[in-house]
Amino acid sequence: MVRNLISIAVVALTTAISVFAQQTEEQRVESLLQQMTLQEKIGQLNQLSVGGFDQNTAGMMRSGLVGSILNECNPKVLNRYQKAAVEESRLGIPLIISRDVIHGFKTMFPIPLGLAATFDPELVQQGARISAVEATASGIRWTFSPMLDIARDPRWGRIAEGSGEDTYLDTQMGVAMVKGYQGEVIDQTSMAACVKHFVAYGAAEGGRDYNSTGVSERTLRNVYLPPFEACVKAGAMTLMTSFNDNDGIPSTGNGFLVNDVLRGEWGFEGFVVSDWASISEMINHGYAENNKHAGELAFNAGVDMDMMSYSYISHLEELLNEGKVSMEAIDNAVRSILRVKFRLGLFENPYIDEDKVESAFYSAEALEAARKSAVESAVLLTNNGVLPLDKSKVKTVLVTGPMADAPHDQLGTWTFDGDPAHTVTPLKAIKQLYGNDVKVIYEPGLTYSREFNDDGIAKAVKAAKKADVILAFMGEEAILSGEAHSLVDITLKGDQRKMIEALHATGKPVVLNIMAGRQLVLDHEVAHSDAILYSFHPGTMGGPAIAQLIFGDETPSGKTPVTFPKHVGQVPLYYNHNMTGRPANGREEMLHEIPLRAGQTSLGMTSYWLDCPFAPEFPFGYGLTYTTFEYGATAVGAAEVGTDGVLKVKATLKNTGKKEATEVVQLYVRDLVGSVTRPVRELKGFQRVTLAPGESREVVFELDIQDLAFYGKDMVKKVEPGKFQVWIAGDSASGVLAEFEVK
Ligand code: GLC
Repeated sequence: MVRNLISIAVVALTTAISVFAQQTEEQRVESLLQQMTLQEKIGQLNQLSVGGFDQNTAGMMRSGLVGSILNECNPKVLNRYQKAAVEESRLGIPLIISRDVIHGFKTMFPIPLGLAATFDPELVQQGARISAVEATASGIRWTFSPMLDIARDPRWGRIAEGSGEDTYLDTQMGVAMVKGYQGEVIDQTSMAACVKHFVAYGAAEGGRDYNSTGVSERTLRNVYLPPFEACVKAGAMTLMTSFNDNDGIPSTGNGFLVNDVLRGEWGFEGFVVSDWASISEMINHGYAENNKHAGELAFNAGVDMDMMSYSYISHLEELLNEGKVSMEAIDNAVRSILRVKFRLGLFENPYIDEDKVESAFYSAEALEAARKSAVESAVLLTNNGVLPLDKSKVKTVLVTGPMADAPHDQLGTWTFDGDPAHTVTPLKAIKQLYGNDVKVIYEPGLTYSREFNDDGIAKAVKAAKKADVILAFMGEEAILSGEAHSLVDITLKGDQRKMIEALHATGKPVVLNIMAGRQLVLDHEVAHSDAILYSFHPGTMGGPAIAQLIFGDETPSGKTPVTFPKHVGQVPLYYNHNMTGRPANGREEMLHEIPLRAGQTSLGMTSYWLDCPFAPEFPFGYGLTYTTFEYGATAVGAAEVGTDGVLKVKATLKNTGKKEATEVVQLYVRDLVGSVTRPVRELKGFQRVTLAPGESREVVFELDIQDLAFYGKDMVKKVEPGKFQVWIAGDSASGVLAEFEVK
């Protein structure tokens, strides 16, 4: 009895404290808001990019006219600016200092597309947490990450920054990063996440960055919005609007997205920042007359903070006086920003401990997590058995190619603060780890990915003759992907293909490692190599990871987070496409098979190209390892299930090879008939399963039928009863299906 009374008292006290703390935060917001002048309120909505200490900018802070800064990372400079805001202004409201911490701050992790290939949200969350610890030590308390843009087009350079083509995988990775950046408990190492770019920016026509998109509301709701909703529900503190106009409306001026969906439907309480100058860019879009009109459109669409358009700071007071924006809306925007600043503890601890900054970087834990992430992000695309190398047989290796010793490019795009001096390249790692086992010859052939150099290739070919195996490190310089770096030709640049062909012609085994910011067209590489290990850009510890995979001290487990096309002309090419009325059946005649003067009847009347098969080079979810896995048939726990039910789906997985390995077991579902057409498959779950040689395990998924809900013809999200197919498989193109019905 007494124990119950005590526990009741504890619960009551805890509740009271949390309510008091909650009211304290809200009360603190309100009491500060009441003290603020209009200019000070508008100042909180103003974000400036700074580089070095500037007295004019500091003066604006002393006047309370700056709410946030970005692009400065020097702790001393940041402390000086923060002092101006906190100690030399009327109300002492701290700045929230921001940075693009996209895949690491100092310790660089694989680019997000590579992190997605791990299919390991826990590992990705750990990496985000480590990035937050490093960045917050430097005073960065807000990152513009995770980038959630679904991307089905590798011509788009920013595919590097996201988690690929699939909504479910993107959601898992985004939520993991939000939790990692912000921390399970908010403290001094918490960095506010910023989910971006809201929305459908990755659907840019032609894969050309910043280009228009034409995504229907239904496809927005079924494909592009779910990752954002999940991250908002996971507590993401901020969100960034996107540059693109979708269906004619720039996202930065789209009240349906921000006011109706984000705040109205999802109850988002954080704040919304524009992308860089995306408010004023609505003038270019032809959507705003001038910067004042652009500010009115953005503000009334729900954008709280203006990144580098100087629109709010210049025109919001005028707009208020003209009755074009409301004081209530300004107060609400300020509340959202102050709430995040209070939540992060900036009022209590606005300054950086300059003595502790350096010690936070490149810890052993950080480097090991980066190495592990690079191991798991590598996808073994082909292997004729040459990998893993047999150290008892291989005595001399040639290390060659423009990415073999490229400390800057190995880090990939959006590497602002990672120091290439800390990069361990494959050349360094192979020498360090295996230099006692094998003789290492290094002849780069090409010194950067775009180089044309016959002499260099000749030197590499000559060196190859002395080696037992050729380890060729090819790919893209970091600058060839990322923002504003789209390509029409997604094959290896420069003389890389020529070099691979020459190396292959030596007759020596060619192991090809590719570091890139996107999936590339690899038909030529497949034909002229014995194995391809695809690493995307693997970050600081990419070298040891790749070396250990090649020499067998690590085993590949990565899976493709995007579809690899056979030809760029197939793009956009993605696994979760609709069936169409005339689906390709794989038996279509190709150009060389078409008889002369053939009539229309001799051609398959299906959805394909005469000069390229419908199928990709490598499908979504694909990846080999150093053993073989065998899947038993998919089985369901019941033939029928209710719309609110949970269906057990299982299959036996067996390691039928000679090495222990980890398989990313995937769960796919197809809704056979809907009120709108539905994808041929959709990923609804995955598990990483490690099996010893010969070991079997029954892998079981609990499929919540509510996860099959979608926006149908009536634009209402619900599960539609009917027949479904389900697969447990090793990629999006394999597996033995089972069927079930939702009643
Ligand atoms: C850039 C990017 C955005 C980034 C911002 C700040 O233009 O679009 O992703 O966070 O500006 O650097």
